Amino acid sequence: MGNTAGYKALYDGWKADPEAFWMKAAEAINWDEKPSKALFDKGDNLYEWFADAKCNTCYNAVDRHVEAGRGEQTAIIYDSPITHTKREISYVELRNRVATLAGALRAKGIEKGDRVIIYMPMVPEALEAMLACARLGAVHSVVFGGFAASELAVRIDDAKPKAIIAASCGLEPGRVVHYKPLLDGAIDMATHKPEFTVIFQREQEVAELKEGRDFNWHGFQYGVEPAECVPVEGNHPAYILYTSGTTGAPKGVIRHTAGHMVALNWSMKNIYNVDPGDVFWAASDVGWVVGHSYIAYGPLIHGNTTIVFEGKPVGTPDAGTFWRVISEHKVKSFFTAPTAFRAVKRVDPKGEFVGKYDLSCLKTVYLAGERADPDTIVWAQDQLKVPVIDHWWQTETGWAIAANPVGVEMLPVKLGSPSVPMPGYDVHILDEAGHELPAGELGAIAVKLPLPPGTLPNLWNAEARFQKSYLNTFPGYYETGDAGMIDEDGYLYIMARTDDVINVAGHRLSTGGMEEVLASHPDVAECAVIGVSDELKGQLPVGFVCLSNGVNRPHEEIVKECVTLVREKIGPVAAFKLACVVERLPKTRSGKILRGTMVSIADGKEFKMPATIDDPAILDEIKVALQGIGFAK
Ligand code: COA
Ligand code: AMP
Repeated sequence: MGNTAGYKALYDGWKADPEAFWMKAAEAINWDEKPSKALFDKGDNLYEWFADAKCNTCYNAVDRHVEAGRGEQTAIIYDSPITHTKREISYVELRNRVATLAGALRAKGIEKGDRVIIYMPMVPEALEAMLACARLGAVHSVVFGGFAASELAVRIDDAKPKAIIAASCGLEPGRVVHYKPLLDGAIDMATHKPEFTVIFQREQEVAELKEGRDFNWHGFQYGVEPAECVPVEGNHPAYILYTSGTTGAPKGVIRHTAGHMVALNWSMKNIYNVDPGDVFWAASDVGWVVGHSYIAYGPLIHGNTTIVFEGKPVGTPDAGTFWRVISEHKVKSFFTAPTAFRAVKRVDPKGEFVGKYDLSCLKTVYLAGERADPDTIVWAQDQLKVPVIDHWWQTETGWAIAANPVGVEMLPVKLGSPSVPMPGYDVHILDEAGHELPAGELGAIAVKLPLPPGTLPNLWNAEARFQKSYLNTFPGYYETGDAGMIDEDGYLYIMARTDDVINVAGHRLSTGGMEEVLASHPDVAECAVIGVSDELKGQLPVGFVCLSNGVNRPHEEIVKECVTLVREKIGPVAAFKLACVVERLPKTRSGKILRGTMVSIADGKEFKMPATIDDPAILDEIKVALQGIGFAK
């Protein structure tokens, strides 16, 4: 192993005096009132950071750069191969646009603490909407466009927004996503009704507006007074972002204002190795945490240029799109999900498109969102000839738990490992009883409390669920929900989830949520959904349904209806296309469905016959059913 003095000194320095470490990092933020200290212990294992400060995220992400003379620098590059559009927005333009939008929202009654749902595709206006909320101290909750109306409705009822900002449509290859009918449907379904909506009308589809409730994005800003930044407390929620848990009810992850800014700003140099003015690109979506942290807030707070890319890794128009964007906009650090590289590799295994572009600007590539398989990393390293860094984090943490701190010291890359814990994270591998496991042994990954700034302080309106989901299993620790190990050199390996969450194309989904939908089909008596391995997307959901007595309809018909139902209720992003009808499900004698064993059968892996299985013969029936849909070979 190479020299790790840089990282070691950094990590040990944090551990020796976390308070001093974070107070120093906080100096990079412009405060309306400085924090008197970093950590606030709220009791019951709840912690907050910089709680007594006063600050504003929009000021730090936009205005301060203009005031510091960076106004003419490009803040956002919009590159949309899907609409053949390119546009640049400077920091000064961004400031003016966001101040006007915030002014219009304020004129309609949006104030500090009000929730605003944002339901928009990858257009710069999505970032502007987020920043306008931040400017007023309003709490935004962005909902990913691939979710169905009922998922949006659940979020409306939980967040209770005063307003919803949406676009008329999104664009998927070969398909227009009709946001407005989805939005109308969600508002109809929800018990809580927003006071008004703002609709950003796109050229590709102009939505019909409902008089008195829906306002046109452009029209409603006409003639308003621009709004100034409203200072908020350090522990004021900056946003709520819903993520999948074990059940169908999503968890509203809260992000507090001050810790969010401090941590993201710190990560831009120390992890992503960019300086203010450099171009940073995260090819994700604003609907996910990667989009929040590294398309919107991180790069802008740090004074970088960020890219809003509306396209796919392949097919818009070809497998060279990523390289074109990197080359054309001089991207220094690039962040994407392994699945995106697998998609490119599948189409262009020899990297013929790579050779068409000058990629000398690119210094480092970062992967996260799902396990980065060594083949994909090696392929990317060979093609791009730069370090490819895996790093591990979650919606809950908002930034990397483990990474290679490239801006401090590039540690040797170990394939299959997202490298080492970042300052702030004291990572442990525990057995079921909460005992520490030695190096090399697989267990639950837990982080000693308190978590660092920028991580979730709680769940929105659900403290009991917060305690139960994350804090109760291992007292004094945050339970990550991931299993893995640490090697002799302190490198982490992330192996699997310990709950019913699966990862499909870097998207986090709940199999429990899909089971709830299947169970609602009138002919389904019982069901199970598992995540099977898939070469492109990492995992794919597969459903098993047992029919109610007396149901005699063709199985194909029922399967088709199940697939449609999941698409309608959860959304296309669930990528639920495979299901089969079985007589019975394998269970333990106490009635627990043996999902893990079913996954092993599907993936063609060896497995130990569970000692408590009710009837081992069922496993053969499951194997035959899986073979019928192309698995368990
Ligand atoms: N709005 C509406 N629908 C969306 C959507 C959005 N923002 N994003 C995806 N969908 C739809 C897709 O069109 C697809 O619909 P279909 O069933 O009609 O084809 C469905 O949801 C499944 O999407 P996905 O799993 O992404 O598959 P895909 O075949 O469209 O694309 C990849 C595959 C690998 C190219 C794509 O998943 C990708 O680019 N992944 C990168 C991962 C990523 O950005 N992760 C975010 C966390 S870092
Ligand atoms: P999300 O909250 O959508 O970001 O998903 C977080 C989950 O994705 C984690 O708990 C992991 O299960 C998985 N994940 C994210 N990054 C990695 C990584 N680098 N390696 C392995 N799994 C990852």
